[in-house]
Amino acid sequence: MAPVLASRAHKIDLRDMEIRLQKLIAGTGLASRRKAEELIAAGRVAVNGKVVAEQGMKVDPDRDHVKVDGKHLSGAQPFVYLVLNKPKHVMSTLDDPGGRTTVKDYLHGVSVRVFPVGRLDFDSEGLMLLTNNGDLAQALLHPRYHVPKTYLIKVKGVLPDEEIKQLERGVELEDGMTSPAQVKKVRKAEQNSWLEITIREGRKHQVKRMFESVGHPVIKLMRIRMGPLSLGDLAPGEFRFLTDREANALRELVDQRVASIERGEEPVRRQRKPVRRAGWARSSKIKKSRGRAA
Ligand code: URA
Repeated sequence: MAPVLASRAHKIDLRDMEIRLQKLIAGTGLASRRKAEELIAAGRVAVNGKVVAEQGMKVDPDRDHVKVDGKHLSGAQPFVYLVLNKPKHVMSTLDDPGGRTTVKDYLHGVSVRVFPVGRLDFDSEGLMLLTNNGDLAQALLHPRYHVPKTYLIKVKGVLPDEEIKQLERGVELEDGMTSPAQVKKVRKAEQNSWLEITIREGRKHQVKRMFESVGHPVIKLMRIRMGPLSLGDLAPGEFRFLTDREANALRELVDQRVASIERGEEPVRRQRKPVRRAGWARSSKIKKSRGRAA
């Protein structure tokens, strides 16, 4: 049995991206699930070169090689992962009943049905992960995973260090205290300033509400990193497929979180060194700092 973690809202199977062998075979259209079980029972199915002796074996379609009657399983849809730089004034959903432009309108040439992992506000821009790997998407969105997301933001006014510390410790919002965050000063101008904030939650309008709570409304918001993924120099409206290394890093992130949750541990957070806060860079223009490192 796959371990199941309960959250207040829903239950989710968090074990790997594995599925039952008969489900994988059935998913290719080669046989029904029952017929697939018969194929397995008859010793006609091999995984990674070994004939399968048991029913219900779990396989990872991304990693395991499955053969039926000596032939590679074809028709299994490979997992696709891509990063889009969502422009401002675009819906982060696939459809909009109001007829507004959605992220789907930017996925030219992507024939596989991918869906967005999480949301960005209509007026926010930046990194959106889209995939057809539903289990990975669900796991990344699960509140217990704490996948760090970093936003580059422009806010009204200039925050003193005390307000920055307050945001880092947590602020009271109408839906409760926020978890610890990291805030980095980027630039200040006459009336506004630019900062980077990294949070591990995904509440609605969270970053905007956090800064609003300390009296500095957000004027511009761009997601620049999500877990091991960076926006890099992807222009607004452009997308790219993840490299194998990035896709593996995402899967490993999920695997590690699952393992630590199964061991009953809280997710490991890197110890922060005591902050020696650097000063603000002065500039009226922001050079978008979209570092590659997570
Ligand atoms: N926080 C917000 O307030 N808006 C977003 O789009 C993302 C995070």
